[in-house]
Amino acid sequence: MDLFDKCLAFTRVEEVKSFGLYPYYHPITKTEGPVVYMNNKRMIMVGSNNYLGLTHDPRVKQAAIDAIEKYGTGCSGSRLINGSLDIHNKLEEALAQFVGKEAACIFSTGYQTNQGAIVPLIKKGEYIISDDENHASIIQGTLIAKALCGDSILVKFNHNDMVDLENKISALPHDAGKLIVVDGVFSMNGHIAPLPEIVTIARKYNARVMTDDAHALGVIGHGGRGTASYFGLTDQTDIIMGTFSKSLASSGGFLASSERVINYIKHNSPAIIFNASMPASNAAAALKALEIIQDEPECIQKLHHNAKRLRNGLEQLGFNVIKGETPIIPVIIGDDVMTFSLWKKLFDFGVYTNPIIFPATPQGQQLIRCSVMATHTDEHIDYVIGIFEKAGAELKLLHAKV
Ligand SMILES: Cc1ncc(COP(=O)(O)O)c(C=O)c1O
Repeated sequence: MDLFDKCLAFTRVEEVKSFGLYPYYHPITKTEGPVVYMNNKRMIMVGSNNYLGLTHDPRVKQAAIDAIEKYGTGCSGSRLINGSLDIHNKLEEALAQFVGKEAACIFSTGYQTNQGAIVPLIKKGEYIISDDENHASIIQGTLIAKALCGDSILVKFNHNDMVDLENKISALPHDAGKLIVVDGVFSMNGHIAPLPEIVTIARKYNARVMTDDAHALGVIGHGGRGTASYFGLTDQTDIIMGTFSKSLASSGGFLASSERVINYIKHNSPAIIFNASMPASNAAAALKALEIIQDEPECIQKLHHNAKRLRNGLEQLGFNVIKGETPIIPVIIGDDVMTFSLWKKLFDFGVYTNPIIFPATPQGQQLIRCSVMATHTDEHIDYVIGIFEKAGAELKLLHAKV
């Protein structure tokens, strides 16, 4: 057997392409945020995590440009040694203050951030207790921890199922260190983690709590401060993780916690120590976006206005929309072929959405994931609803309701 035999045998992409349904890696040639261009074709973008639309705010762009002028395009070294800039420290202070924690540390991507927390924190004889629909970057972190410490350290509980969480955690040794980790807002279905129950269980069974607030920051909580703030549980949430690639208009991630925990992670996390630090332009963009969110919280209200408009419109058409209160609006379709077919019709009519299939969502829950931005206009949203109606009717998805 040759190592590359598996690559030659992997023909699924060609098969899907032969039906004209391949939905991935379509390049955007120009973007204005809520409107993008693909092959010169104008599309309404409802598949982005750019919730507040700040990637195209002139102040954010200028901050990134100014940072390149001042610091250059890359840092060429890790934070630990030559790669720390004053703007990294400024961003960390601003993030810690924003989410209400003593300290924060930043990583080059959100993906690395979850590994960056889990790997140094979980040691042999300790446990990571993870919702089974947590993001892939949390799973990646737990896999590394398992490889280092043994399979028994990972305990998974059914998605948002507090009875299962309590059953599983109560079976673990009380005195052992434990970390319960959950997505604050789940990226594919928009569910919010039941943090009050999680915190209560954590305190009862000697566990710490970490939320991945990638989709919660700038979206829920007081002024967009995320899941812990949404529930009034900032002090009881031990570690808050966030990314810059969603509301913060950049790329990178952070952890916020007590000063001692952050100090430990900064000196023990391979994901920070052995990785070149984030370019100054990314840090400057995130810092400016954070300032704007605090100065102009009305952008969050506009986001929720848009989310409600799209959600109501799709529900009224008869689509099976997962209930929620975030800008993630998932439309359940239920199988791969119909999901890709609807995606393609929407695409051809100028609406960009995300088709989500297993393993990103459970089998039978294949869906079209829509997400809105604060910078969509009512006309954009109404256009999207109209196209869903047209595509849904053509595919006979709405026959029961229309
Ligand atoms: C819940 C969650 N956590 C972490 C990440 C990783 O963040 P990034 O894409 O910014 O590296 C993502 C991004 O898709 C996410 O949805």
